[in-house]
Amino acid sequence: MAIRKIKEDIYNIGAIDWDRELFDELIPLPEGTSYNAFVVFGSEKTALIDAVEPDKKEEFLRNLKELNPKKIDYIVSNHAEQDHSGLIPKVHELYPDARIVTNEKCKGFLMELLPLKEEAFDVVSDGDTLSLGNKTLEFIIAPWVHWPETMFTYLREDKVLFSGDFLGSHLAVSNTFSNDDSQTYLAAKRYFAEIMMPFRPMIKKHLKRLEEYDLEMVCTVHGPVYKNPEFIIKHYQDWVSDDVKNLVLIPYVSMHGSTLKTVEFLTDELTNRGIEVLPINMTKADLGKLTIELVDAATIVLAGSTVLTGPHPQMLYTAAMINALRPKTKNISIITSFGWASQATKTLKSLLGTIQAEWLDTIDYKGLPNEEDLEKVKELADKILDKHKALNLL
Ligand SMILES: Cc1cc2nc3c(=O)[nH]c(=O)nc-3n(C[C@H](O)[C@H](O)[C@H](O)COP(=O)(O)O)c2cc1C
Ligand SMILES: [Fe+2]
Ligand SMILES: [Fe+2]
Repeated sequence: MAIRKIKEDIYNIGAIDWDRELFDELIPLPEGTSYNAFVVFGSEKTALIDAVEPDKKEEFLRNLKELNPKKIDYIVSNHAEQDHSGLIPKVHELYPDARIVTNEKCKGFLMELLPLKEEAFDVVSDGDTLSLGNKTLEFIIAPWVHWPETMFTYLREDKVLFSGDFLGSHLAVSNTFSNDDSQTYLAAKRYFAEIMMPFRPMIKKHLKRLEEYDLEMVCTVHGPVYKNPEFIIKHYQDWVSDDVKNLVLIPYVSMHGSTLKTVEFLTDELTNRGIEVLPINMTKADLGKLTIELVDAATIVLAGSTVLTGPHPQMLYTAAMINALRPKTKNISIITSFGWASQATKTLKSLLGTIQAEWLDTIDYKGLPNEEDLEKVKELADKILDKHKALNLL
């Protein structure tokens, strides 16, 4: 991808990964991704803010060569993960006098992950500034916007925030700036769900802190630059709030249709009660579809069958993911179909220990659901309706 000018003397020399399918060997990327790296020219000094994924070395170095800064005085690292730091050693090799500027914790990570020597680093603390001549970088320590060592860099004179992964989106688009709000919304929500959601209390604090700053632009390291930062900040505020939607999420697996029968029945019963429902077949769905909805679903009902005494392995995986992502869901339940004996409900429940939601009655039944089982499903639907009404969702 070509060099993109962000503002006078600010350039994105990052790369676009149009067809990467999986991130961290875990997260599906239906729209690819990008790794942004920004060069800021001050009247005296030049800074590179973050680098890119080592796979994209050629593209990044081509851009760097084309932009051709006479010198790079500072390499600022906001986040030590390799998709942004992996090429820092290469840049340092090309510009051996450059100082690597980061916080103490990030320095530690960088030295553990990459061949970088302690002498190359300048350590900064919260609120420290670095003058580039007519431009000033201010560092804002902002842990847990993915990893514990993360920080933001604010360019005072231009009112531009370099926010690392924070507010980002896995989105491969050629446009420099975000210009399709609906596309960006979904990609950013998916990114938030998978990367930021477990750290909601920290994110809330960082959003509060950023209220002190005048933001004209936000440059994240994945996805297009925001010229209208209030757009994404407003959505983040909503996603980290305790507000939930009138939505029941039903991740399920069904081998011979016995669980599916109950899922379909529950879906109808909830719909008839004015509640939105999303059944997701976990053997087919992309994990991102589940995570996006986990951001604000009021209720989750896991439904699956029994395999070799325990839950279907796909439901084990689903429960482990939900538990790790710590959604703000208010109510949760489990439905299990079995043939002769099952520990599936018990096992799934034990895997969901971090979820703060209230447990509603779980339902276990043999084979296809009979009249009595379906009566229990109706009772569950009534209970969910009561809970959603109590939350003023309908
Ligand atoms: C590979 C396999 C392993 C199974 N293991 C168990 C088991 O250990 N205990 C049990 O009660 N049922 C077991 N069953 C039976 C299913 O849990 C039962 O038929 C259930 O109703 C299937 O629901 P489904 O059609 O929604 O998948 C097994 C079925 C299959 C196909
Ligand atoms: Fe990251
Ligand atoms: Fe990243």
